[in-house]
Amino acid sequence: MRVRYLGWIAVLAVTLPATFPLFAASKSLRPTQPWMDKSLPAEQRANLLLQAMTLDEKITMVHGMDPRPNNEYAGYVPPNPRLSIPALKLADGRAGVGNHATDVTLLPAPIAAAASWDTALMHRYGQVLGNEEWGKGTNVALGPTIDVVRVPEWGRTFETFGEDPYFNAQMAVAEIHGIQSQGPIADANMYLTMNQENNRFKENSIVDPRTLHEIYLPPFEAAVEQGHVGTVMCAYIKTNGVYSCENQYLLKDLLKGRLGFSGWVMSDWGATHSTVASAKNGLDQEMGGGTYYSQALKAAVENGQVSMATLNEHVRRILVTMFRFGLFDKDQSGSWTTDVRTAEHAAFSREAAEQGSALLKNEHGLLPLSNASSIAVIGAAGDLKPKAQGGGSSTVVASYIVTPLQGIRKHAADDTRVSYADGSDLAHAIAVARTVRVAIVFVNTDEGEGRDRPNLELPGNQDQLISAVASANPNTIVVLNTGGPVLMPWIGKIRGLIEAWYPGQEDGNAIAAILYGDVDPSGKLPLTFPRTATEIPTATRQQWPGIDGNSTYSEKSDVGYRWYDANNVRPLFPFGYGLSYTTFKLSQFSVTPKKIDWATNPSNNINAELEVTNVGKRPGAEVVEVYVAQPEKNGELPRQLRAFSKVFLQPGESKHVTLALNKRSFSIYDSTSHAWKFPDGTYKILVGTSSRDLPLQSTVVISSSPVSH
Ligand code: BGC
Repeated sequence: MRVRYLGWIAVLAVTLPATFPLFAASKSLRPTQPWMDKSLPAEQRANLLLQAMTLDEKITMVHGMDPRPNNEYAGYVPPNPRLSIPALKLADGRAGVGNHATDVTLLPAPIAAAASWDTALMHRYGQVLGNEEWGKGTNVALGPTIDVVRVPEWGRTFETFGEDPYFNAQMAVAEIHGIQSQGPIADANMYLTMNQENNRFKENSIVDPRTLHEIYLPPFEAAVEQGHVGTVMCAYIKTNGVYSCENQYLLKDLLKGRLGFSGWVMSDWGATHSTVASAKNGLDQEMGGGTYYSQALKAAVENGQVSMATLNEHVRRILVTMFRFGLFDKDQSGSWTTDVRTAEHAAFSREAAEQGSALLKNEHGLLPLSNASSIAVIGAAGDLKPKAQGGGSSTVVASYIVTPLQGIRKHAADDTRVSYADGSDLAHAIAVARTVRVAIVFVNTDEGEGRDRPNLELPGNQDQLISAVASANPNTIVVLNTGGPVLMPWIGKIRGLIEAWYPGQEDGNAIAAILYGDVDPSGKLPLTFPRTATEIPTATRQQWPGIDGNSTYSEKSDVGYRWYDANNVRPLFPFGYGLSYTTFKLSQFSVTPKKIDWATNPSNNINAELEVTNVGKRPGAEVVEVYVAQPEKNGELPRQLRAFSKVFLQPGESKHVTLALNKRSFSIYDSTSHAWKFPDGTYKILVGTSSRDLPLQSTVVISSSPVSH
């Protein structure tokens, strides 16, 4: 009896204010709302709140408001004061807070931070980004972009972590933890097979289930299972004929089913194509506006095409996540106009640019520059138009950009002559290059969302510029400001090459520190640089950009270095490659146990152990990479990256490194049984410092074939 009486009070408490707004107006009259009890679990609070919501209030939660107040953020769901629901404020965040926010820090592009091969650095990258987003009032940070790079020309390559599923997964988890540690909910995007910009609103990726599971899904799987990411953004494109945001297999069966994702799925801006199909197949929230999820969805619920239970499930996922992240309980004082920059963030931006810089060629010990009495900085990106970031929704309003010329001038000795030619006039560039000891040519690509690069060539006259300068001065160094690979017809003519990516606001300071050797270049390529335009995994038109709207993934799992290795094609610079100013020795390699039976010990790991020593004269860092090769009889890919670790060492210092391999490191996805298999046999463990330099090798015997569902 008493229980029933209390129940009635609760119902009145939540329904009266909706019916008679006067009850809501006076806070003192309002009884405590049961879902505001912090001691209750998030699920229970969400269910209590859901019971109190009207249909209109539910509909408001599942789409973005259009237009947004003051045009701030990228997406906005208004607050509901009656029910104490805070607003959702979604802002882009790849290399800093986007959407025209000012007074923010421009970090190097995600591909640059990933090239550090340092998950601790990527975690800090997420922290800086998350901190600035939160300071701006953002509670959902739209990033990271975790798709595997399939097509080297992809216009958003700079936003990603590169071409390897395992590597991307590690970086995704590190960044998501970093972002979410600062308050905002992170957003893993773009789900799934978003691998090109050309025709991106209609493209259909034709991909087999095994490739989907082995190559494209792992970063999202890790983001969900290890990163505990709060939201996932479904992509513009179709996978096997169905748009991502109404794809039952991708959203319901895989993401929410097998991966157990408990957060909410939002559509990319304009990626929703239906009301009923989307609602039934797993799209929780339409962004940026409400073309399909406002009046149309309300009508569909009222006329029974979409059940109230389905709508409730979408709203519940949003609310549970908001409760889980404390959005109902935390005080977020910042707003879109808050200045969120700090000296630490700027210093981090520089450190990340330095750590991601990859030294690809260094002949005659030209680098680091010691006492070059005269230097020429050549190329638009050297000063006139520094190329600090890519384009599109990731764009950040930089407060400043230190140009390479400024950085080098600041760094050079007082008596060093530093001259500049913007490169538009070849004759002038040659004349300037002739008069100096060292010529440094800065070249760039102009990558951005919405369009792929037409080819892998450097645009404009930049190839000619490099060749001309190199003919005029043998001590020519090229600095690449690109988001991905470029062809290098001039590679034999130059002595030094650094991939500095899109380095962010500290561009010039970071490259000067690398050129002069204040910092050891320890970045490694997270994607392969091909030798020719045709020797790439996606060279046919059927593959990219596709024919009649279909991009066929006929290369299957042969993505990135896997293709080069499987087809015995020598790349220009392999995945995982990068030089240093010091020298490292890898020794005392062992693998234990030598034999494993996963049927009886499913959680056992295999440890690869070794000693890494800095045998050179400078402090530096080396990345140890572990690849696993299936038994030859299985006819599988030659080898795949399964572990890595970055080791910082003083001259003469040694460190013992242990890298753990688990069941999944040896797995194959079987699309008949929809399960991971671990076939019996002798597997090779290969360890080294790039995918093509693996001098340490051992074996392990897998002695049973359990099947995991
Ligand atoms: C992009 C997303 C972005 C969204 C909001 C879209 O064009 O694909 O990555 O988050 O815009 O700005």
